[in-house]
Amino acid sequence: MAVYNLGSINADRVYRVPHLPAPGETLAAVEYFSGLGGKGANQSVAAARAGARVVHIGAVGGDGGWMVDLLAGEGIDTAHIWCSAEPSGHAIINVDDAGENAIVIFPGANRALVAEHVVAGLIDAVPGDWLMLQNETNCQAEAALVARKMGMNVAYSAAPFDAMAVQTMLPLIKLLILNEVEATQLAGALGTGVQNLPVPRTIITKGAAGAVWLEQGKAPVEVPAFSVRVMDTTGAGDTFAGYVVAGLAGGLQVTEVLRRAAAAAALMVQKKGTAEAIPLLDEVMAFLNQ
Ligand code: RIB
Repeated sequence: MAVYNLGSINADRVYRVPHLPAPGETLAAVEYFSGLGGKGANQSVAAARAGARVVHIGAVGGDGGWMVDLLAGEGIDTAHIWCSAEPSGHAIINVDDAGENAIVIFPGANRALVAEHVVAGLIDAVPGDWLMLQNETNCQAEAALVARKMGMNVAYSAAPFDAMAVQTMLPLIKLLILNEVEATQLAGALGTGVQNLPVPRTIITKGAAGAVWLEQGKAPVEVPAFSVRVMDTTGAGDTFAGYVVAGLAGGLQVTEVLRRAAAAAALMVQKKGTAEAIPLLDEVMAFLNQ
C-alpha cells in the first residue's frame, strides 16, 4: 500500500555547540551546516528509503525549490507540494557534544495549506493506504477526516507536542506515535495513562531504552534500542516513524516493523544531519544481519 504524508518541509540550519545555550547566554558554534529537514520531509524520506511508495503533501515558499528537488530525488511524488507566498519553513537546530538537540522552528509555508490542497493530494489514495501526519503543518484534522472516509489508515506523530491538537486527533487515527516526553505530557493533559487512550495502536519511543507497541486487547511488544555511538539524535524519531509506517504499509509483522525501525534510527544517530542521514533499507538489513 502507498504512504501519503501531509508533512512539514524545513531548511535545517544546524549549529554544533559545546553545550545547549542557557537563557541569556551567547555561544559560538564550532560547526555549521544546512540541509533538508522538517518532521514531515524526514518521515517521507525514511518511508521512501524503507521501500514505500510515498506521496508528500505540503508547501514551500519560492525559496524552497531545492527541497522539493531533493524529495523528488528520493522517488517521492512531489506533485502535491504547493508553492506558497509565505517563505519556506526553517529550523534552527543546536546540537551538543552528546548529540542532544534543541530546535526552534519557523513554520512559514508549512502552515499556509488549505483543505483543498489536502483533498487534492489524497485524490488517488485507495482503501488500506496510509496517511502520516505530524504537528508542523495545518489541516491535520481535515486530512484525517478525508482519509478515514476513504478507508485509509491514519498514523499521527504528536510532535511538536500540543495537547489540544492531540486531543482533536485521537478519535481520527489508527496509530499514535509518541516519544516518552510526549507520552508523559499527554498523560498529564488527559489525566490518564497512554495505555487507556481511545486509539487502536500506540508506539512510545524511549531513546536508548527502545520502544514499545501498545495495541488494544493485546500484550505490549517491546523492541530494544541498539547500542551505538551517538553523533546527532535530530530526526531519529522521524526515521523510526517513517520506517514503521512503510513496514506496516508493506504488510510486515509488528516485530519486524519495530526491528527495522530501531535499526534505522540506530544508524541515523551515528551521522550528522537529518534527511540525508536516514539509511536505505539495504543498509538497515545489512546492520541487522551483522
Ligand atoms: O525532528 C527533527 C526535525 O524537527 C528537524 O528536521 C527540524 O526541521 C524540525 O522539524
